[in-house]
Amino acid sequence: MSTSPLLGEQSRSVLPAARLRGEPRLPGDKSISHRALIMAALAEGASLITGAGDGRDVAATAGIVAALGATVQRVREDGLNVDYRVASPGAAGLHEPDGILDCRNSGTSLRLCSGMLAGLPFFAVLDGDASLRSRPVARIIEPLRSMGADLRARRSDSLPPLVVIGRSHLRAIDFATRVPSAQVKSAILLAGLRADGRTTVREAVATRDHTERMLRSRGVEVRRVSDDESGGGPVAWTLEGGAQLSPLDERVPADPSAAAFWLVAAAIHPDAELTLRGVGVNPTRRAAIDFLLRMGARIDEAARGEPSGEVGEPLSDLTVRSSELTAIDLGPAEVAAAIDEIPILCLAATQARGTTTIRGAGELRNKESDRIAGIVAGLTALGARVSVNGNDISITGPTALAGAATQTLDDHRLAMTFAVAGLVARGTTTIDRAESAAVSYPSFFLELERLRA
Ligand code: S3P
Repeated sequence: MSTSPLLGEQSRSVLPAARLRGEPRLPGDKSISHRALIMAALAEGASLITGAGDGRDVAATAGIVAALGATVQRVREDGLNVDYRVASPGAAGLHEPDGILDCRNSGTSLRLCSGMLAGLPFFAVLDGDASLRSRPVARIIEPLRSMGADLRARRSDSLPPLVVIGRSHLRAIDFATRVPSAQVKSAILLAGLRADGRTTVREAVATRDHTERMLRSRGVEVRRVSDDESGGGPVAWTLEGGAQLSPLDERVPADPSAAAFWLVAAAIHPDAELTLRGVGVNPTRRAAIDFLLRMGARIDEAARGEPSGEVGEPLSDLTVRSSELTAIDLGPAEVAAAIDEIPILCLAATQARGTTTIRGAGELRNKESDRIAGIVAGLTALGARVSVNGNDISITGPTALAGAATQTLDDHRLAMTFAVAGLVARGTTTIDRAESAAVSYPSFFLELERLRA
């Protein structure tokens, strides 16, 4: 860590790597870790969650379910992942929280816990850091209100803090999400567990389906209603209210969104070979891998199947080597499928031959930062040829990057993207507020330094 007053206390410098080799350790999938904690709190009995990501976001959800009366124990931790034992009295035995529920930087905690709280007869206030307070909540207030819960938020119900006054009996709804959002879909499905009748959520573009898979593995019948079983297109999900969740012991797969940083690092580096083990390759999460393959990345995939104890998720070992990349065109549905990986894919595009276009990426402005603004500023500082037209991004490559000062906007995915850029850029790349990486990947900088060794 640099202590330069100019760079700020929490900045990092990254120097170019002569070669990259090894097997970076990956955090447990963040999306699955949040859901495992919430579902363990809703199920009566004890659940063991092995290999949950130990980033600050998941810790926020652990704190929230503990504040509602679940007993949450950290039974093993290694600085990257944690095993949680959660003992819960079940949804009916949880209690009103005494204080404000702190989601910290985590939009997933905010949206998913709202869905859980809508069906619990408590007064609860969800709040977080400055970034979280700028993230839209109208998208969850609307459906959860129409189910009968009372929700209020700052600025005419648009921004956190968010008050949820839940009820133990909600009305089932049939709701079409306005933006592709697994968080909104999941909030409605979790509330639907406490509704009278059948709740349906319709999506124009299929988003990650972990909630659906994980509810099924806990005994809830969740049905997919779709003409297009291949995924990607319009889809609807239904569940019947009143189902009880069974507790479950499960192992969380390695996070494909974290793996994406190393896939790109190796693909754009001239002397690299990295192996990533046990990565979750759920069809609704693997888009970034497939886009990189389309760009010409040399990624070998060995399927590991679905071992028992996993949460119904396919896993693969991935080996990636130095590659010659070519540009790609991504439209709005493809952006939705790789929403968390767009920043690192933008870095890949700077090293790809031709002009990459990423169209309809407006949702990136609603993440931990305005990621369009952040990625354009950072990559431009590094010498990349990037332009933005509304919510469309164009990147022309390949461009030799030159180390520069980059601003993370306190956004973990921007911090990690610029750090990976530093491995290939000439000179020194500095990343301000680099510790934001710990939101999803606590050992990220440790892994990065190990790979060059
Ligand atoms: C997540 C869904 C995505 C993603 C976020 C995690 C989830 O958000 O960006 O990091 O776990 O459901 P949206 O579904 O709101 O786009």
